[in-house]
Amino acid sequence: MNPAGLATRSNAEYGKPDKLVDMIKQNLIAERIAVEHYRELVRYFGDKDPTTRIMLEKILAQEEEHATDMHDFLVAHEGTPFLKD
Ligand SMILES: [Fe+2]
Repeated sequence: MNPAGLATRSNAEYGKPDKLVDMIKQNLIAERIAVEHYRELVRYFGDKDPTTRIMLEKILAQEEEHATDMHDFLVAHEGTPFLKD
């Protein structure tokens, strides 16, 4: 649990973007990684632990909303989708 190694244990990449739009792109990628991670967890718990699965499904819905928000910001800025579905 040492925070010094957090970046090396993360599934997401942490760059140093100079522009706001690049920051949003990185955030979108991180949100989509989170979505995939929560989907895997939901599948893992399945019927083995429905209470945990339901909690994770609620978090998944929030992460999907975050990804949609980032995507919508990019579409509004650039006029085209950044990443395909
Ligand atoms: Fe998020």
